[in-house]
Amino acid sequence: MEPIPTPHIELSGGLRPRFYRGAIYHPLTAQTWEYWPDGGLVVSPDGRLEAVGPWTAIASRYGSELNIEPPVVLGSEHLLVPGLIDLHLHLPQLPATGRQAEDLLAWLDQHIFKTEAAFAQRAYAQQVSRWFFQELLKNGTTTAAVFLTLHREAVEIAFEEAERQGNRVIMGLNLMDRLAPPELTRPTEDLLEDTEALCRIWHGRGEGRLRYAWMPRFAVTSTETLLTRLGALRRQYPDVYLHTHLSEQVDEIETVLRLFPQAASYTDVYDRYGLLGPYTILAHGIHLTDGELALLKAREVSLAHCPSANFFLKSGRFRLEAVQKEGLRWGLGSDVGAGPEMSLFKVMKDAQYMQPDLTLSPHALFYATTLGAARALFLEEVTGNLTPGKEADFLILNTQGKSNIPAELGQNEQSIEARLSQCIYLGDDRLVAATFVRGQLVYCAPGFGLKKG
Ligand code: GUN
Ligand code: ZN
Repeated sequence: MEPIPTPHIELSGGLRPRFYRGAIYHPLTAQTWEYWPDGGLVVSPDGRLEAVGPWTAIASRYGSELNIEPPVVLGSEHLLVPGLIDLHLHLPQLPATGRQAEDLLAWLDQHIFKTEAAFAQRAYAQQVSRWFFQELLKNGTTTAAVFLTLHREAVEIAFEEAERQGNRVIMGLNLMDRLAPPELTRPTEDLLEDTEALCRIWHGRGEGRLRYAWMPRFAVTSTETLLTRLGALRRQYPDVYLHTHLSEQVDEIETVLRLFPQAASYTDVYDRYGLLGPYTILAHGIHLTDGELALLKAREVSLAHCPSANFFLKSGRFRLEAVQKEGLRWGLGSDVGAGPEMSLFKVMKDAQYMQPDLTLSPHALFYATTLGAARALFLEEVTGNLTPGKEADFLILNTQGKSNIPAELGQNEQSIEARLSQCIYLGDDRLVAATFVRGQLVYCAPGFGLKKG
């Protein structure tokens, strides 16, 4: 097969919209999508989506403007899709991925706490943060809900780096005030003072691209005082997120119920302190009872399902059928470092492999990492698909970007389901040719030929 020349277009800032022409796919609901084999996307100078549809319609609407600003024309190996959303991962754990242990609590003790303690050093925090945010964009992840450490300076470095590289993020100071190594616990009042100060600086910065989250690590490492005070902060700042872990492993749950003997369940621990509501993201939720799921639904929380991490730590099977039946908002998370890889293609694949009796279509898996995840973050007005008016977070995939994807099967005359399926089951970061956040090119694969504006 003849290689198709890649576009060499210099993107510059300016006052005119930018045009992209090629195969375009995006979800509309969990069951429906739009797909144009020869589509057009128009991005306004302020980084919003102005129009999307068949190229003929775009061409007739924009007519002579296209002579002044010609479109970026994609090859038949390319597919333009919305940016991916990772609902749960840990920045400080990136250097420690793939280090196995017996179970969750042993893994934290043997590998993770040590790695996180190193974030007390400024230079190290800077180096890993730079690498982490680059890696997200290289994997096509445009929005991420990120755990950090309890070092105030490291949190500032992370926000500065995300601001500089262009990522859309939700993150905050990791809060631990008991049952962790001394270098990873801090007095409750110090943590509360720092987390509120950081929230005031960073929440909503970058015209809303950076958002803040209260982040108690999990119930095990949180005192009653910490949780009570976080309940008060939530009432004071209703659109700040609360992001924590819930019900991942049986030993963890037993520990929590010993520490909070008055609580009816792990979920009830968080509920008693007023931590459950919209803008609450709970990672894992593997061993939830029907009663807990109903409570989570009543409170309108969102679940971050992290199948790759659940395989790695042998945590158990996420009750996806029950979660869907209950109508909970949910999406996928890589959970790096318990999840070995950041690529959400791998995570989508694992989500399907984890369910013995449930078939998730390629579209359903894409929905869970785009619009479904945006809904879980209450950001569906901002990102998640290519509806005009939203901010232009999108990817150009090279669906043949990996050597085991047969070239003749990757063409855009294939059904869109077949192309999405190959991305999910064969794909990784090599599929990502370019990543855009709010219309800005924030990553371009070597050789692809787009230049940052
Ligand atoms: N529970 C508490 N902390 C962690 C963590 O860092 N990773 C995972 N997978 N679960 C946790
Ligand atoms: Zn986690």
